Amino acid sequence: EGGPTPPSLSWSFAGPFGKFDRGALQRGYKVYKEVCATCHSMNLVHFRNLADPGGPGFSAAQALAVASDIQVKDGPNDAGDMFDRPGRLADKFPAPFPNENAARAANGGAYPPDLSLLAKARNYDRGFPQFIFDFFTQFQEKGPNYIDALLQGYEDAPKDFQLPQGAYYNKYFPGHAIKMPKPISDDQVTYDDGTPQKVENYAKDVATFMMWTAEPHLEARKKLGLQVMIFLIIFAFLMYFTKKKVWADAH
Ligand code: HEM
Repeated sequence: EGGPTPPSLSWSFAGPFGKFDRGALQRGYKVYKEVCATCHSMNLVHFRNLADPGGPGFSAAQALAVASDIQVKDGPNDAGDMFDRPGRLADKFPAPFPNENAARAANGGAYPPDLSLLAKARNYDRGFPQFIFDFFTQFQEKGPNYIDALLQGYEDAPKDFQLPQGAYYNKYFPGHAIKMPKPISDDQVTYDDGTPQKVENYAKDVATFMMWTAEPHLEARKKLGLQVMIFLIIFAFLMYFTKKKVWADAH
């Protein structure tokens, strides 16, 4: 039993000319770091990625400044001891819990999934007939649409709904009983660029950020795809006229 279909939003990265909105990526990173990262890891993302082309557009110096804000356990050193040092560009985003059991223990038995690839994982779960339909429509936007809707989908449970202990009612979560408490409210994260500090914007920005972590080369892929299509169209015309010329005398 799923929830209602999340509304389809318009995303800057959609379509053949899609590109990430740098501002949204930077704000989304801030939301992830200040809110989601207290429960969710992003094990596949490294600080250096913040400065990668097609990403949030940090300079290497900015990415390093962000990294060096955290302390990372390293070692053993020559004396055989473990030690803490400031983060570097090569470090992963820090995980909030040492392992899955610790994460479950802190979240009423539920596991806050790693968010690195979740924007893509959520593309595939509509089952057979819809899958074909999604393939031709907003296949790739389904993940971010769902994340955006989920973060805004908290409501009071209907009277006849049996909400299990430690769960919250969410309109868009399959089965509606989610063990993630409503993570974000208006004004919780400070935006420095004048974007209104509304859940609506937090949700869209963090969903954009998660789309980038899940598909960091999206821009390069779309650009190459477009060049290939243009080439193929020109090549098809060339072949057509070549064929006409070669076969001009055939009766
Ligand atoms: C699950 C996103 C913050 C704890 C999830 C899921 C997403 C998500 C997409 C998966 C839902 C699904 O399976 O369909 C986010 C984002 C956050 C955030 C974007 C920040 C804005 C938090 C925080 C906590 C938390 C702060 C802890 C207090 C959990 C838990 C689950 C979960 C326990 C598993 C829920 C279940 O399976 O019932 N989150 N989350 N999340 N999240 Fe979060």
